[in-house]
Amino acid sequence: MHINALSVNRTVVLGHLPHPSYVERVPAGGQGEAIDAVMVRGLRKSFQPPGAALVRALRGVDLTVGMGEFVAVMGPSGCGKSTLLHLIAGLDRPNEGSVVLAGIRIEALSADQAARVRRRHVGLVFQFFELIENMSVMENVTLAALLGGSKPAQARQRAADLLDVLGMLDRARVLPATLSGGQRQRLAIARALANRPTVLLADEPTGALDSDGAAEIVELLRRLHRDGQTIVLVTHNPEVAAAAGRVVRMRDGRIADPAGGATAAQAGPGAAAAQAEPGAAAAQAGPA
Ligand SMILES: Nc1ncnc2c1ncn2[C@@H]1O[C@H](COP(=O)(O)OP(=O)(O)O)[C@@H](O)[C@H]1O
Ligand SMILES: [Mg+2]
Repeated sequence: MHINALSVNRTVVLGHLPHPSYVERVPAGGQGEAIDAVMVRGLRKSFQPPGAALVRALRGVDLTVGMGEFVAVMGPSGCGKSTLLHLIAGLDRPNEGSVVLAGIRIEALSADQAARVRRRHVGLVFQFFELIENMSVMENVTLAALLGGSKPAQARQRAADLLDVLGMLDRARVLPATLSGGQRQRLAIARALANRPTVLLADEPTGALDSDGAAEIVELLRRLHRDGQTIVLVTHNPEVAAAAGRVVRMRDGRIADPAGGATAAQAGPGAAAAQAEPGAAAAQAGPA
């Protein structure tokens, strides 16, 4: 199977599958205008830890990610990057503002409703992989496809196809613990792609990898993007960010460059390192 099978085809994603009745579709801006993968407006989110001061994690974030875009989000620890990804994935609700995912408003959905939209439109990748350690490589991916609504035979076929494309078919029967860090993250990415998500959301996917593992994941993300996969990735690593088409910088719960920000070329290793949290890029770039 060729990598093209991974393509996000907007017609298939948005046109052919019926939406459940609770879905509120947001019309595109103009006639024939494409629906964005992600549209975030005026997003605010605060946390109130018991006995401590209110934390304003997001203080009014606007972000639009077009279909097929690869956006890297950078910024110091605690500036709200993970909170933003969680809200885009519908894992949590904002205090104010809206989140539109593939044309569906999700910020006010119940947890169950949000989970249904998420299973169809979002693939999540985390720093520490979050694999199911007592299931084989193949079973990890198959389970994700089953949870996405595929029939068992289809789910197994999808898992085999993905592992083939990602060069891991020969590891299908082993347990994740036998894999290298880079392979573990590749498996997590295969799982995240099981349901052909509109957007792949990755939170510091190379943060726990050595430089070889990180390079392997960067190459894979580039390849997926070339093939049309929409990606939003949080990273401290300028070399990872340089793979993206656009770099968005956050600071204190806000987008630091609301005008649209630097292109990836402008934000190459030197530029990004200058703005990153002191020490963070160096710490991430070296062996974990
Ligand atoms: N569930 C939570 N409860 C309390 N505070 C939180 C919670 N999640 C995040 N925060 C706080 O919100 C701020 C932003 O966190 P986060 O989005 O994780 O930042 P980043 O991913 O950029 O490091 C931090 O001050 C963090 O401590
Ligand atoms: Mg974070």
